Amino acid sequence: MRRALIAGITGQDGAYLTEFLLAKGYEVHGLMRRSSLFNTDRLDHVYRDPHETGPALTLHYGDLTDGTALRRTIEKVRPHEVYNLAAQSHVKVSFDIPEYTADVVAVGTLRLLEALRDYDRAGSVRHVRYYQAGSSEMFGAAPAPQSETTPFYPRSPYAVSKVAAHWYAVNYREAYGMFICNGILFNHESPRRGETFVTRKITRAVGRISEGLQGKLYLGNLDARRDWGFAGDYVEAMWLMLQQDAPDDYVVATGESYSVRDFCEAAFAEVGLDWRDHVAFDQRYLRPTEVDHLLGDASKARDRLGWRPRVGFDALVTQMVGHDLDLARQERALQGAGFFIAARGAALAS
Ligand code: NAP
Ligand code: GDD
Repeated sequence: MRRALIAGITGQDGAYLTEFLLAKGYEVHGLMRRSSLFNTDRLDHVYRDPHETGPALTLHYGDLTDGTALRRTIEKVRPHEVYNLAAQSHVKVSFDIPEYTADVVAVGTLRLLEALRDYDRAGSVRHVRYYQAGSSEMFGAAPAPQSETTPFYPRSPYAVSKVAAHWYAVNYREAYGMFICNGILFNHESPRRGETFVTRKITRAVGRISEGLQGKLYLGNLDARRDWGFAGDYVEAMWLMLQQDAPDDYVVATGESYSVRDFCEAAFAEVGLDWRDHVAFDQRYLRPTEVDHLLGDASKARDRLGWRPRVGFDALVTQMVGHDLDLARQERALQGAGFFIAARGAALAS
């Protein structure tokens, strides 16, 4: 049985990748941070109590800031594949906590690679395959469309840290012959997306406004353009990269871009509302340096991996709004029954 270790298993992509690998018959192990509240909401539907069934999914406490725990977990799990999805992944927040972002995203990647290098060296038949979650944010201000040959021009502490992680990964591949792939993924969304990323912030608000639970939606720059795909499609590309004969780097994208304004228009239209009546500007959502236009050229992934996105922009918006409308209806029903539900994170500027 193939064993995979996923760092960042509790995140959006971690949950989709876990489902994908379990369906392929993998034994999946995940590294998760200790939290004072449960942080496994995205995984609870696939987790089985090990006392009752076999351990197809096992969770281990760990953190990319703790190299000793990473080494110990790798020795214990003895993975065939490692997916490094762990990150402080919010671009705006990275301007507020740049040192922590660099410690997790850049140095954390280095810690994991070092742990794997020692593990790989220790035995002759190990050769673990490693996936590094790179980002289109690394292209930053480089003109669209962007491909594997586009020079990086990062515009945030997050993006600079991802560039460092990318080059650590390339260097370890070249220096030590390790099987390491960098996926350069453009934005990918889903109903599991964190609620402070713009697509989910919009679809949550659409649901709540249409159910009378929220007045306005406050946003920053509506002109930014992104190449938005569906997260469930993108985890397949990660896996495909690790199944090739040789390691390489790939852009993963849909090849279409839309503005934040376009997303608002489409999402509010799903419930028969005009976005202009409900969206207001708040400058605290602006970033000190913005990334204006990301549009990916994923020809290499299409030609070499046979990968194609299945869910387009309209279907993605429909899926996310439908999910968040259901959530808002549940919230309204609870309110009707006398429960008070606070708007979460309302005070946070992200
Ligand atoms: P996400 O939902 O923010 O998940 C990030 C994961 O990393 C969570 O499991 C989080 O744990 C974990 N994490 C954070 N800090 C950690 C630390 N110090 N040690 C260990 N784990 C830590 O992100 P995502 O959207 O799934 O993205 C997955 C990866 O792809 C990230 O590296 C992201 O930067 C990158 N990426 C994402 C996109 C996108 O559009 N989604 C595009 C390109 C690249 P908690 O649950 O405890 O917070
Ligand atoms: N979050 C947020 N909140 N973004 C807003 C808002 C707002 O209120 N108003 C406008 N935006 C704009 C941002 O300025 C940005 O241009 C765009 O919406 C998208 O922002 P996010 O959804 O936060 O995503 P991101 O593109 O900055 O970063 C995401 O994608 C990267 C890949 O390109 C994250 O998932 C990163 O981890 C990932 O690497």
